[in-house]
Order: sequence, then structure tokens, then C-alpha cells
Amino acid sequence: MPGGGHHHGGFRGDTSGLPFAGVPWELRQRYDELVAEEPDITVDEEAVDYSPRVPAGEQRPFTLRRFLVPHWRALLGALGLVVLETGAGLVGPVLTQIGIDEGIGKGDFGVLVAATVAYLVAIVVSVVTGATRIAWTGRVGERLMLALRVRVFAHLQRLSLGWFTDEKAGRVLTRMTSDIDALSALFHDGLINMAVQALTVVVVSVVLFSYDTSLALVTLAVVVPAMVVATLWFRTTSDQGYGAVRHHIAEVLADLQESLAGMRLVAAHNRQAHNVVRHRAILDRYRAANVYTGRIGALYGPGSELVAVLGQAAVLVVGGRRVLSGQLSVGELAAFILFIATFFAPIQQLVHLYNTYQAGQAAAAKLRQLLRTAPGVAEAPDAVELAPVEGEVRLESVCFGYGAGPGDDAPVLHDVNLTISPGETFALVGPTGSGKSTIAKLVTRFYDPTEGRVLIDGHDLRHVTLDSLRRQLGIVPQEPFLFAGSVRDNIAFARPDATDAELTEACRVLGIDDLVERLPQGLATPVHERGSSLSSGQRQLLALARAFIARPRVLVLDEATSSLDLRSEAVVERALDVLLEGRTAILIAHRLATAMRADRIAVVEAGRVVEVGAHDELVARGGRYAALYDAWARAAQPERATG
Ligand SMILES: Nc1ncnc2c1ncn2[C@@H]1O[C@H](COP(=O)(O)OP(=O)(O)OP(=O)(O)O)[C@@H](O)[C@H]1O
Ligand SMILES: [Mg+2]
Repeated sequence: MPGGGHHHGGFRGDTSGLPFAGVPWELRQRYDELVAEEPDITVDEEAVDYSPRVPAGEQRPFTLRRFLVPHWRALLGALGLVVLETGAGLVGPVLTQIGIDEGIGKGDFGVLVAATVAYLVAIVVSVVTGATRIAWTGRVGERLMLALRVRVFAHLQRLSLGWFTDEKAGRVLTRMTSDIDALSALFHDGLINMAVQALTVVVVSVVLFSYDTSLALVTLAVVVPAMVVATLWFRTTSDQGYGAVRHHIAEVLADLQESLAGMRLVAAHNRQAHNVVRHRAILDRYRAANVYTGRIGALYGPGSELVAVLGQAAVLVVGGRRVLSGQLSVGELAAFILFIATFFAPIQQLVHLYNTYQAGQAAAAKLRQLLRTAPGVAEAPDAVELAPVEGEVRLESVCFGYGAGPGDDAPVLHDVNLTISPGETFALVGPTGSGKSTIAKLVTRFYDPTEGRVLIDGHDLRHVTLDSLRRQLGIVPQEPFLFAGSVRDNIAFARPDATDAELTEACRVLGIDDLVERLPQGLATPVHERGSSLSSGQRQLLALARAFIARPRVLVLDEATSSLDLRSEAVVERALDVLLEGRTAILIAHRLATAMRADRIAVVEAGRVVEVGAHDELVARGGRYAALYDAWARAAQPERATG
């Protein structure tokens, strides 16, 4: 038989189509040995605060209130400090009134000095508590930010592949950067300040009324309506403005991210100028949105100051007349005017804070939406731990469609039935786009079938924990991905505890020991972004070594040797013979030379399995596979004659 691959002898053919009948006896011994020598797969990593299911405390929609409640102690502490700080600031006008009326008015210098000293003390208290408050709220704010970042990141880890395919990476980054940052101001002192300013407005109003009811009424009648109108206008316009700003910054980041990711193609196709023009247009919209919000602020700030000054003028005239008629003391009028200043500052501050709050709420809404996204592939609440499997994989009447865009749920797989015996090497062949990788994604449960079931050792994948499933499944994807880190980190990705000896051994078996040795620092050589410093063949070899180290019970190789030269491929295939022995392997291959080494082969066409059988059987049957093989053999023959 061409290729001279390994075969697990007698059971091929006999078990095909039969229900699962356990590990074939020829393999039983090897299987038991493997299970004995392999690391205990039920051992957990160090306790991390992560579970594939959303923790109980995070199941209700994300709102600021729910997020903040668990931190109420720290927030209350901060609030206490601010109340002290503001209170110390507010006694100023009262002490001034006492100084003027009791000290100056009655000619008592002692009272004047005492009032001045008390004023000084109050200011010192206010400054010291202010400093403490800033440090305190800073710490609390950072703690809140950390908790939120971890929560969002953990949620991203939970989401399934389909979501990442549909979502622009840049937009996800916006959630993690500018949206979370928008909450930073709120967490740091925004919320606390808001409470305090509101409190100040109430206290000052009460004090004003206690000094002189009619003067207080005049002040409020002039000032409050004007303030309210201005503020309402500001609220609505700035809501729209900030919404636009958030939208445009997300666009900027998304475009930036995409340009960076595609830099090589951009350069190759001379698209730099076009890129700059497009990015400029996006930046321009962002600029316009910012200018708009700036203009609103510019109108509101000085406008409300004008209202404040008009209010003070009114108080001076009305209050001055009351002083002249003896209904009010000079000290009380001075206190009144001072209080009005401290009355306006909080109102303005409140509006400013309202802005921060608005931006924060907008960000919280975006985060709520993200945190509400349920993983397409979720772990069932009653999922059980999957015990070490023997490796029977079965697809029962599986139908599947990605259902990506609207109206695009064209089925990709139709009624696929496959039974792969434990230890079998099973190949999938078929034209581009026929659904081979999709089958692989269903077997590793990156997606769930829309109809039918995928079973491993008779367990529906939907009823076992993701963790226990993935620990026993390995996949070498069509486009291997390398992380920033060392070559060692990348190979030992699934088993960080692997020793250097094990890694070197894996490299030796795969024939990449010389590749690793040629690297400047061997295993410690850093791999740059996505491994772009390595050739795609080298990347595939590292991905294979990674799978080799993980030693999964079921291994899916999706075109895992497609970028290798013939010699490396031969070395890898020998290594695979070792690796795959006693394990179930699903091999997706365009090269028939690779596929025909498998025990059985399935031909996938347009989402259907059209033929299943061993190489010889299929060739003898004279169907689709025989035609493929014929074409391949005819093309290969002349080469052989000359070679
Ligand atoms: N994430 C996705 N979202 C939507 N459609 C997808 C997605 N991935 C694949 N498809 C579609 O599903 C079909 C099958 O794709 P699949 O990747 O399984 O093909 P394949 O047989 O592995 O092809 P190849 O030999 O080129 O790797 C294709 O029509 C493809 O357009
Ligand atoms: Mg594919």
C-alpha cells in the first residue's frame, strides 16, 4: 500500500459502522500503558478565579449599582472623609458672620481673633481630610477598576469561537480600554463627589433659609430656574455628544487594529495612502464629535457663571436693602454672599459630574451588553466530569450552520454520521470549503451542532464539562497560532509543567531538534507576535510539538503538515506514527499521500459524508475517492518515473 503507513490491523473494516465495542484487544495493552504513564488529567491547575460558567454573583445584568454594592464599606469610608472635608469648608461663611457681627460689630477683638483662628483650623482640617480622601478614593477606584477588568477579561475567555469571528477585535479592545476608563473617573471620586455636592446644596439651602427666608426665596427664584433650564439643555445635548464620541473612538480603534494586523498586505498592495485617507476620515469624525462636546461645555460653563454673578448681584441689592432697614446684619449678608458662591460651585460640579456619570453609564451599558453575551457553547449546569476516555468519536445525524450574518444560516453540514473507533486514525478528505474543518470544530466543541449529537465514548459533548473535555482533546489547527513568549512556552502551552527533557524529546521525535538548536537561544528564543518571525512550516512544527506534549486522547490534525517540505513531512509522519498509536486521530488532509495512511477515510463533499472506508476498499469501490486517487496517481506517476 502506498505511503506504507501504520495500520491497526484487523479491526479496521470489522468495526466500521458497528456500535462502539470498546478498545480493540490488540490496542488494549498499549492503551493501558498510555493511561498509566500519562499525567493525571483530573489534576486541576492552581486555583484560579475562573470557571467556564458565569459565577452566581455575576448572573444578573451588569449595573453600576450591583457592581458597587459589594464595595460599600470602602465607599462609605470615602464618603465620610468627603463629608468631613466639605463640612470643614462650609463653616467658613458662618465664622465670617460671627467675626463681623460679634467681633467687628461689637468691637470685641478677642472674638475676631478666635473666629479667625477657628477659620484657620477649619481650613487645615479640610486640607488634611482632602489629602486623605484623594489617596483613599484613588485606592478604592483602582481596586474597583481591577475587579471590573478581571471580570470582563474572564468573560471574554468564556465566550465561544463564533463570537470572536463576528466581533471586530478593535471593538473588543475599546470595551477593555476606553469604556472601562470612562468608569475610572466615576469610581475614583465621581460618585462620592456627587453625593457630597448634592448634600452641600441641601445643607446650604437650609442655612440660607434659616438666615433669611425671603432673601433665600429671592435667590432661589432667580437662580434655580435659570440653572435648571441651562442644565437640562446641557444634559440632552451632551448625552448625544458623548454617545457620538464613544462610537467614533471605537471606530478609530477598530480601524487601527485592523491596519496593524494587515500591515504586510497593506505594504504589498500599496494601500498605505488609501489607508491613511480612510483613517483620516475616521479620525475626522472623531474630532468633530469631540469639538461638538467641547462647544457645548464652552457655552454651559461661562453661561452658568453669568447666572451665578446675576444671583449674587440680586442678593446684594435685595439683601443690602434689608440690612439698611435693620432686618439683616452685615455679617449675615456677607455670609449669604459667601454661601451663594459655595452654592453655585456644587451645582456646576454636579452638572460636570453628571457628564462623567453619563459617560460612565454609557460605558456600563456597553459592558452590560458584552457581559450579557452568553457563550454560544455553554457548559450545562449539570455537566459531568468526563472520565479518561478511550477515544470513540461519533457524530449522529449532525447538521450545522454558522448562522453568522443576518439571513446567512445556510447549513454547512447535512446529516453527517460517523463513528470513529478508539485508537483509529481517521482521515477526512474533500474539496475546499466542503466542511472538513467544521467537523473538526464540532468534535472539539468549538460549536454545537444545530441538529444531532456529537459523542465521545458515548457521552454527548454538551453534557460534560468543557475543561475535562478539552484536556483530552487536542487540535492542531489549520492556521497555527503562536503566542508572544519563548519557543518553550509555546510548545509547553497545554502542559506548562513539562520538563525541558520532555520538550527536547518531543522536538527530537518530530525531527525539529536541529531547528530548535539553530535558533539563537534554543528553547528560550523569543517568538514574536503570532510567530511572524518563523516560517509557516516552522510554525506548524511547533504546533505539532505542542500537541505532542499535550498527549491528548483524541487528536485532530487539520492540515497539520500542509506547509512542510516532503522530507520534514516524512519525519513528522514517522513521529505521528509514534504519537498516534493508541490514540484516536482525525486527520484532515488535501494530500492523498497523507490521507491514505489512515485506517479509514471519509470523503466530505458539500457538507455531506459521501463515502467512508479503508483506502483499498474505496479504491476498489470506484467512487469519488477512487476518482481522486486516480487523478493523484496519474499526476504523481511521471514524477516517480523521473525521480
Ligand atoms: N466562521 C465561519 N462563519 C461562517 N461560515 C463559515 C465559517 N467558517 C467556515 N465557514 C463556511 O463553512 C463552509 C465549510 O468550511 P470549512 O472550513 O469547514 O471547509 P474545509 O473543508 O475545511 O475547507 P479547506 O479545505 O479549505 O480547509 C465554507 O463554505 C465556509 O465558507
Ligand atoms: Mg479547513
